Amino acid sequence: MSESSAPISGAMKGSNAKRGLWSSRLAFILAATGSAVGLGNVWKFPYITGENGGGAFVLVYLLCIAAIGLPIMMAEVLIGRRGGRSPVNSLREIARHDKLNPAWPIVGAIGVIAGFLILSFYSVIGGWAASYVVKAGSGQLAGQSADAIGAIFSDLLADPATLLMWHTLFMALVMLVVAKGVRAGLERAVSILMPALFLLLLTVVGYAMTTGEFGRAVTFLFQPDFSKLTTSGILVALGHAFFTLSLGMAVMMAYGSYLPKNISIAKTSIAVCVIDTGVALLAGLAIFPIVFANGLEPGAGPGLIFQTLPLAFAQMPMGSLFGTLFFVLLIFAAWTSGISLLEPIVEWLEEQKGMNRTTSTLGAGFVCWALGITSILSLNLWSDFAPLGAISMLEGKTIFDLLDFFTANILLPLGGLLIAVFAGWVMSRQAMEDELALSKPMFRLWYITVRYITPVAVGAVFIYNLIGS
Ligand code: PHE
Repeated sequence: MSESSAPISGAMKGSNAKRGLWSSRLAFILAATGSAVGLGNVWKFPYITGENGGGAFVLVYLLCIAAIGLPIMMAEVLIGRRGGRSPVNSLREIARHDKLNPAWPIVGAIGVIAGFLILSFYSVIGGWAASYVVKAGSGQLAGQSADAIGAIFSDLLADPATLLMWHTLFMALVMLVVAKGVRAGLERAVSILMPALFLLLLTVVGYAMTTGEFGRAVTFLFQPDFSKLTTSGILVALGHAFFTLSLGMAVMMAYGSYLPKNISIAKTSIAVCVIDTGVALLAGLAIFPIVFANGLEPGAGPGLIFQTLPLAFAQMPMGSLFGTLFFVLLIFAAWTSGISLLEPIVEWLEEQKGMNRTTSTLGAGFVCWALGITSILSLNLWSDFAPLGAISMLEGKTIFDLLDFFTANILLPLGGLLIAVFAGWVMSRQAMEDELALSKPMFRLWYITVRYITPVAVGAVFIYNLIGS
């Protein structure tokens, strides 16, 4: 089946041939990390951790990463490499080859829809980060108090025109790269800019240690208090494991189709999970000491990092420089993730509708941009509008909240569930043993996880939340 495999875009394949196998392993890790590390780690993880009471939530999140995220990532990469095509076609090819139900490409369709909905609000948040480059760079934040910094953020949210401008800019950046179809340069940039982001986060953690509340932050993040954990908190932790690792929408499947056969899927997937989790935990360690030292509210919601990090940059030496650099790197991380959100849609339009890359990027990007306007309005003019408020679980949720909830907590886990079922129950066991090349006990552990643990865990969390609401 794989002789006829056609790579999705020539960029990585070509460079692999030139640079040999080791660099193609690195290329895969860079591409996958570029997609995984983004706003999910730095923006979303700290604020949902704050909203859900800290330690116990973090523990469930870590468990979800290790016991569900990692095995599903391996399954996605494996299916992609086996099929050797774009996700929809990989699934179709495997299904045809093994005479399976032709409905499986629906997983690819979930990816297309999820990518589209996520990118619409992701771009708005990417826009927030972009606006902070200017705020930090122009010295606006220097020496400001917590109240003043809070007010700067509220002013931004209250101003739809400014939000729209930054959202437009972010979306244009994403579309530019997707339209050109060139990823190689960007992936190389990841290898410099990601470590730089990591270092800057470490710098803020270093600063945060001097605020005197570091110990409290560590306790908050790592000492589980199960009385604070709710059923919906578990769903959020599970959903976030998918979101942060870019799972459940076949992104890793697409990248897997480039991975040479002799490279360990397990080791590379572990590397991506460790890097991604490391960045998230570091972001938490950077932010919570500032929260406690300034008497801020851990459950402040989506604005948390924009109310805390600028405060650190306002107070630390060379803060304007570090602040500017930090937000530039954050935009870059969000950019590479945004590209991987738009890519599946564009690919789908190319393959299924026969459109060319420029037209499909412009079309998909425009519709996504337009949908993003509803998220912008949710922050100001429509902040009281909860379209599905009649359902108790969705009470008080704005359109922006609903988009986030529906994608991260429902669509991605559902996509992941289907991928686990496909790998665990549909594909031939022999094929997977060949692909993974693990020791017998390790293979069995993985197989049991995708076959039983993942479907049962995701199913149980879904059902509990339905009953609980
Ligand atoms: N993983 C990205 C982040 O954490 C978001 C993302 C989700 C990207 C799904 C692609 C697919 O920011």
